[in-house]
Amino acid sequence: MTLELTTAGESHGPALVAILTGLPAGLTLDREAIDADLRRRQEGYGRSPRQRIEQDRVELLAGLRHGRTLGTPLALVVRNRDHENWAWGMSPWPPEGDPHGKGTKPVTLPRPGHADLAGTQKYGHEDVRDALERASARQTAALVAAGAIAKAFLAELGISVAGAVVEAGDVDAARAERDTVGGVVEARADGVPPGFGSYAARDQRLDARLAAALMGIQAVKGVEIGDGFALARLRGSQAHDEIGPDLRRTSNRAGGIEGGVSNGEEIVARAAMKPLPTLMRPLASVDLATGKPAQAHVERSDVSAVDALAVVAEAVVAFELARCAREKFGGDAMVDVVAAHRSYVERIGWSGR
Ligand SMILES: Cc1cc2nc3c(=O)[nH]c(=O)nc-3n(C[C@H](O)[C@H](O)[C@H](O)COP(=O)(O)O)c2cc1C
Repeated sequence: MTLELTTAGESHGPALVAILTGLPAGLTLDREAIDADLRRRQEGYGRSPRQRIEQDRVELLAGLRHGRTLGTPLALVVRNRDHENWAWGMSPWPPEGDPHGKGTKPVTLPRPGHADLAGTQKYGHEDVRDALERASARQTAALVAAGAIAKAFLAELGISVAGAVVEAGDVDAARAERDTVGGVVEARADGVPPGFGSYAARDQRLDARLAAALMGIQAVKGVEIGDGFALARLRGSQAHDEIGPDLRRTSNRAGGIEGGVSNGEEIVARAAMKPLPTLMRPLASVDLATGKPAQAHVERSDVSAVDALAVVAEAVVAFELARCAREKFGGDAMVDVVAAHRSYVERIGWSGR
């Protein structure tokens, strides 16, 4: 038993959709809590006016009745409200009538740092838009909706996950210079018992799974667990977390994971975000239509998305931990999951953080 998430949707297409399978029956979901996380993703310093247009809201089409999961696949939709301006340009079927609105002219100026050039080459597109629409981080809205549901599930087991910005570039100065910035975010998970993940196989290691989840987010170029890169410069005597008589640690440099297994301390995972690739003062590129040097495509874009990344990181870490919990505790009904969790923590004598 595990959780699986499949998403689809282009940035300016009609909607983002997600199918989430593997949730037990009897989990109560709160629409407001999901929408609140979608709003948190949209807010934040350095974001573009698009975020004010969108006001994302989740729609549940299947798997839920009167606010409780049925144990069947959950189908979610987040509509792209901006699509009305792109109805011709992003029409799934051949559009009718004269071109109107946005996205009617092919994009032929790939942006350095984006998926534009490699994506166009890979899929044989002539219009860079055919690559950038899905490569865009718009789809992180679906991840955040799924993450909110994962957090509701984890809360039943006393587990909470919170994302935060650790380091951010100077947005005001970058905006004035029509440039962009990146930063560092972290996700911390409290209440995870020892035993999530496994050393048995490399793809079961919790650190590997969290790294893959975070690296799966656009613009994330580095991940560390606990003190991560800083540990490389310490001696073993300084780096490891000693075990007290109550089996708890006096420090948590490992970020709550040893041997690919959670050790009962707070899980700490950090992600480094590169500066956003769409610059209002574009970088050098080539016009794919003419083969001549040109400046890269400019499209409405954020100066920074670090605040948003903190929300997305929280969501994907929550989702991965919820997957671990599903694998560990099984159960078709939420009461069975809670009972299996209780029996396990009693067996190992773990009283939580
Ligand atoms: C929440 C979020 C918002 C983003 N917003 C933008 C943006 O407005 N403009 C932009 O050029 N890149 C943005 N990005 C980054 C690009 O999507 C990303 O750099 C691009 O898809 C290329 O992928 P890569 O950076 O992983 O190589 C955003 C990323 C995230 C996580």
